[in-house]
Amino acid sequence: MAFVIDGKEAAASVISAVTEASVSLEGKTGIKPGLAVVIVGEDPASHAYVNSKGKMAKQCGFNSIQHTLPEETTQEELQALVDTLNADLAVHGILVQLPLPKHFDSDAIIQSILPEKDVDGLNIANAGKIATGDLDTGLISCTPAGSMLLVKRVHGEDLSGLNAVVIGRSNLFGKPMGLLLLAANATVTMAHSRTKDLASVCRNADILVAAVGRAEMVKRDWVKPGATVIDVGINRVPAPEKGEGKTKLVGDVAFVEASEVAASITPVPGGVGPMTIAMLMANTVIAAHRACSLPVPKF
Ligand SMILES: NC(=O)c1ccc[n+]([C@@H]2O[C@H](COP(=O)([O-])OP(=O)(O)OC[C@H]3O[C@@H](n4cnc5c(N)ncnc54)[C@H](OP(=O)(O)O)[C@@H]3O)[C@@H](O)[C@H]2O)c1
Repeated sequence: MAFVIDGKEAAASVISAVTEASVSLEGKTGIKPGLAVVIVGEDPASHAYVNSKGKMAKQCGFNSIQHTLPEETTQEELQALVDTLNADLAVHGILVQLPLPKHFDSDAIIQSILPEKDVDGLNIANAGKIATGDLDTGLISCTPAGSMLLVKRVHGEDLSGLNAVVIGRSNLFGKPMGLLLLAANATVTMAHSRTKDLASVCRNADILVAAVGRAEMVKRDWVKPGATVIDVGINRVPAPEKGEGKTKLVGDVAFVEASEVAASITPVPGGVGPMTIAMLMANTVIAAHRACSLPVPKF
C-alpha cells in the first residue's frame, strides 16, 4: 500500500513558518502583511473559500480585508476597487475570487492586479517568470506551488532522471505545474484531452499529476509501480452509502486501486487542497517582505 502524503500536515507546517515570518516582519518594521480578498455575488462555494482564506490570514497575523460586492456590480466598479487596492500601501496581496459572475471580463480584472500584489500568481508577468525559469522574483500560482512542495517532500529538490506527467494544461494549474517540474530537472510530459493513449503515457510517469476535473479517471493500470501520484482534482459525486441525496468529494485518481500500485499518493480531500490556501498565505508574506525591501522567507 502506498504512503499517503498528508497535505494537512504539510500545510500546517507552511502556516506555522508563515506566521513566524509575519510576526518577525511586524517586530522589525511595525508592518503587518495585508491580504485583501474580493468576492462578487452569492456563490456559496466561493463564500466558503473566501471565509476560510480570511480566517487563515488572521491566524497568520495578517491584516485581513474582505470586500463583498453584490452580483450586479459593474466591471468599472470592480476595476475601481482593484485600482484602490493596488494603490494602498497597507495591502500586499490582492485576490479576486474566481469565478466572477458571467457579465465580467475576468481576465481584464486579474491582469490589472499589480504583479507584486498578485498572490494568486495569475498575472502574465508572474506566469512569464515561471516560464523563463525565474522562480525567485515573482509570485507562483498557489496550487502548483503547493503540489510541488508535496513532490519535493517525497523526492527532494532535484528531480533529475525522473519522468513527470501532468494531465491537464490549464493556465491556473497544468502549465505552471509542468514548468515547476521542469525547473526541478524532471523530464516533463504535459497531457490533455487530445493526448493519444493517455493510459500508456501515464504509465511512464515516476511522478503523475492529475488535474482534469473528472472523478476517478486515473485507474490502477495507469500508474507505474512505485510512482508518486499527486491528485489535484476536486469532484463532488453522489454518495448513496452516506444516505439519500448525500455527496462526497473525490479526486481525479481512483484512490483505493491506485494506492495498491503507487509508492506515495495524495488523498482527496486532505492532499493538495490544504496546500493551496497555505501557499496563498506564503505568497502574501513574501509580497510584504519585498514591499519592505527585506529578504524573502523560503517555504
Ligand atoms: N486542490 C485545489 O486547490 C485545486 C485548485 C485548482 C484546481 N483544482 C481542481 O483541479 C481540476 C482541474 O482544474 P483546472 O482549473 O486546471 O481545470 P480546467 O481549466 O478545466 O482544465 C482541465 C484540463 O484537463 C484536460 N482534460 C479534460 N478532459 C480530459 C481527458 N478526458 N483526458 C485528458 N485530459 C483531459 C483539459 O484538456 P484540454 O486543454 O485539451 O481541454 C484541460 O487541459 C479540477 O477538478 C479543479 O477543481 C483544484
